[in-house]
Amino acid sequence: MIRYFTAGESHGKALVGIVEGMPAGIEISAEYINHQLWRRQQGYGRGGRMKIETDTVEILSGVRFGKTIGSPIAVIIQNRDWKNWTDKMAIEGTGAGIEKISVPRPGHADYAGAKKYGFDDIRNVIDRSSARETAMRVACCTFARKLLEDCQVFIGSHVLSIGPVLIKDRKKIDRLIIRSGENSCFVSEKADSSDVRMLDRSAEARAITAIKKSKKSGDTLGGVFEIIVSGVPVGLGSYVHYDRKLDGLLAQALMSIQAIKGVEIGEGFANAAKFGSEVHDEFMLRSRKIMRKTNRAGGMEGSMTNGEMIVLHAAMKPIATLVKPLRAVDLRTKKIVQSRYERSDVCAVPAASVIGESVVAPVLANALLEKFGGDSLKELLNRYKI
Ligand SMILES: Cc1cc2nc3c(=O)[nH]c(=O)nc-3n(C[C@H](O)[C@H](O)[C@H](O)COP(=O)(O)O)c2cc1C
Repeated sequence: MIRYFTAGESHGKALVGIVEGMPAGIEISAEYINHQLWRRQQGYGRGGRMKIETDTVEILSGVRFGKTIGSPIAVIIQNRDWKNWTDKMAIEGTGAGIEKISVPRPGHADYAGAKKYGFDDIRNVIDRSSARETAMRVACCTFARKLLEDCQVFIGSHVLSIGPVLIKDRKKIDRLIIRSGENSCFVSEKADSSDVRMLDRSAEARAITAIKKSKKSGDTLGGVFEIIVSGVPVGLGSYVHYDRKLDGLLAQALMSIQAIKGVEIGEGFANAAKFGSEVHDEFMLRSRKIMRKTNRAGGMEGSMTNGEMIVLHAAMKPIATLVKPLRAVDLRTKKIVQSRYERSDVCAVPAASVIGESVVAPVLANALLEKFGGDSLKELLNRYKI
């Protein structure tokens, strides 16, 4: 099974990752991964860091002549900002003369993290809890994404809302999704051409205005994005045991992204307010093929894929670092002070949607490997018989 680990601080020398359990024979290149890293850095409302560095990955092991060889894959992304932080983030020395951060920012890991690990300098918490870590997650997960693509399973996403601005013409978007047929990446490519990854152009303009307004007033915004997975066979995951339930595993992966506070499978929340007859997806037959009239369940029944597209929604809270400061307590002096501001995004929902696409990839790849198995792509494809 595929596992991955990430290490590295936001302002440290580099981010590193290890991906273990990838079958052999999957064609992959740094360029392919860099494209996903680039997508993670886009979106209207990002902060200064996106301007100072373009992430690129170096593959150090586990790939030979452009293909995975089954051994652990090691990857590295250099932090170009490191040169400005060599003293503050030094590996050696005592830290003498370096200012300690003692004011925790509301909405961040700062307070609980400092208490938990007994730090008198919150920098230790800030630098690892930061969403900078997701650059390496995207890099690691792209290996699983490629495996899925080789099995004709495609992951796409787009943004449904930013702050109070919601997409309006859902029917038009649904038609686009249906038109994308077996390749939901088509939806993603369309979304990539929008600065806020919205498929509704009037909502896009209103969302950009909302972000501008929020920036002007020193505030921030969150939003909701949708993940669509096409080409998924029936019966991935299982209903037999809690830790094999695919819906639970997908929700965990999405919820583990910084600032994601809600996850929904299909129309989960809206369905809760409806009658069963309005919710459950009736069966139909088309040329003896078993199909559904609707997909309100988001492609999952009994914690397994049911052959329809998987549809997932994730809600991101507004960015917690505000130019307009919130009240905080200085842990050293125990006095009420204003929270600190550190270079920050105003809105990162478009980027989060790309991270969302990435983190579900190893979950789905593992479900595929669990069902069909295979030490190499060839073996997997023979068993999967596409
Ligand atoms: C792509 C992305 C970019 C983010 N950028 C920022 C940022 O610039 N400033 C900030 O305060 N929080 C940012 N966050 C959110 C914080 O990392 C997150 O809210 C914080 O670590 C606390 O974790 P929690 O919200 O999961 O409780 C970002 C999150 C993501 C997914």
